[in-house]
Amino acid sequence: TVLVVDFGAQYAQLIARRVRECHVHSEIVPSTMPVEEMLAKKPKAIILSGGPSSVYAEGAPSVGPELFETGVPTFGICYGFQAMTRALGGVVNRTDLSEFGRTELSAEVDSVLFEGLPEGLSVWMSHGDSVVRAPEGFRSTASTDGAPVAAFEDTDRRLFGVQFHPEVMHTEHGQDLMRRFLYEGAGCRPTWTMVNIVEEQLERIRGQIGDKRVICGLSGGVDSAVAGALVQRAVGDQLTCVFVDHGLLRKGEAEQVEKDFVAITGAKLKVVDAEERFLSALAGVSDPEEKRKIIGREFIRVFEQAAREVVSEGGDGGAEVEFLVQGTLYPDVVESGGGTGTANIKSHHNVGGLPDDLQFTLVEPLRELFKDEVRKVGEELGLPPEMVWRQPFPGPGLGIRIIGEVNRERLEILREADAIAREELTRAGLDRDIWQCPVVLLADVRSVGVQGDGRTYGHPVVLRPVSSEDAMTADWSRVPYDVLARISNRITNEVREINRVTLDVTSKPPGTIEWE
Ligand code: XMP
Repeated sequence: TVLVVDFGAQYAQLIARRVRECHVHSEIVPSTMPVEEMLAKKPKAIILSGGPSSVYAEGAPSVGPELFETGVPTFGICYGFQAMTRALGGVVNRTDLSEFGRTELSAEVDSVLFEGLPEGLSVWMSHGDSVVRAPEGFRSTASTDGAPVAAFEDTDRRLFGVQFHPEVMHTEHGQDLMRRFLYEGAGCRPTWTMVNIVEEQLERIRGQIGDKRVICGLSGGVDSAVAGALVQRAVGDQLTCVFVDHGLLRKGEAEQVEKDFVAITGAKLKVVDAEERFLSALAGVSDPEEKRKIIGREFIRVFEQAAREVVSEGGDGGAEVEFLVQGTLYPDVVESGGGTGTANIKSHHNVGGLPDDLQFTLVEPLRELFKDEVRKVGEELGLPPEMVWRQPFPGPGLGIRIIGEVNRERLEILREADAIAREELTRAGLDRDIWQCPVVLLADVRSVGVQGDGRTYGHPVVLRPVSSEDAMTADWSRVPYDVLARISNRITNEVREINRVTLDVTSKPPGTIEWE
């Protein structure tokens, strides 16, 4: 494995993922982990991530020289690069020239890291301090206007570092650099593949669950389906999948789960009609965090009830259900404040929204993966493309796409509008280009319109088509005007209560994908 030492940057997971894209297994560890513990994992290489702080900042995570005396090839990125410099006796200075964003780099192409790459590269920077002198034994291998030493290497000790971020898409040849470090610098072999990921997860799941009973909440989305399929493959009939119809689903959702998922995986399925329960719990609530917490809590209560039924239906007086499978993904974890030193943006229902008195142990086989990796796992498990390539749909469903109080009538309106938007986007062949397109009902807003000869006083909806690689960042999709026109026409004609269709043209950041 390759250890990615996390200094509290949202970039750590991205680095881990880029390593895996080089077909090398990677794992994230906190920077507070003692070096012996890191070594016990027998890493083939160590990568130090960027971090939010300056090496001079108070409370900045520090790195002792012992980390560089392990003999394990090590790559410092951004903050990690500066921390390495300081630990080994180089000099980091506050220079006047901060560099943020795209920066031109000139590289020495007879070095290990840059061999075979162009001499001039456009790279992504984000730093105030700069390395002005590399530690002894190191050779400086690149520079920019603001960073006299923008990369260095000590090939004897197999230590490498760069000031910029090779893991972000905006850095030219970033992935090549990653590959150069892993293959040439550290001698790793590309043996980590989807088959391995699946095999490792199956083994882990079997180890965790043993011969106990387990239930899995299916939401109709990709993640829970893949998580469920994995666990089914691992422990077979010990698993019962529970599909909760909370009344916040899209049109046709329940039918699709029953049809596709069960047919392919052969899993036991229990469908729970919980609309009444969720809607009465949500009555009168319009605060987004409160909605999310209520939905998270009700999910768990329904699972508890379902678990009791599974036991009594088992008829063998058998064991309790101890485990609950959830399709939690890494972005859910990070954005709910679960990463190290990251802020709580919103409580994704299956992380921050869990009640304190949870009686299950969670099984979250996708917790370290990004969506695109999950899709590959799904394909590997033989799930159909319609299921694997569906638009992501949040667990709290349409509940967080109605701005204002949630009720049956509003849900019905939104469900119709959403179905039209999805249908037209699919018809235009845009499903793979668009990450997802929430339709948001501004239920407390009314606007005046005219239809036929009459005045209308209806509600606006917002179309929020976005493109994204992993939902951590996103851009608004440039959907062709004629497709937008068709969606708008149909929605305002077919859904009586809606008299206005608007388009959200905000990237993430600053906006999140969902409105709540
Ligand atoms: P945001 O709105 O945070 O969304 O930019 C990022 C991605 O996550 C989905 N999302 C959720 N998924 N439970 C989920 O399973 C949740 O509580 C939740 N909230 C947001 C969202 O649809 C987008 O794909």
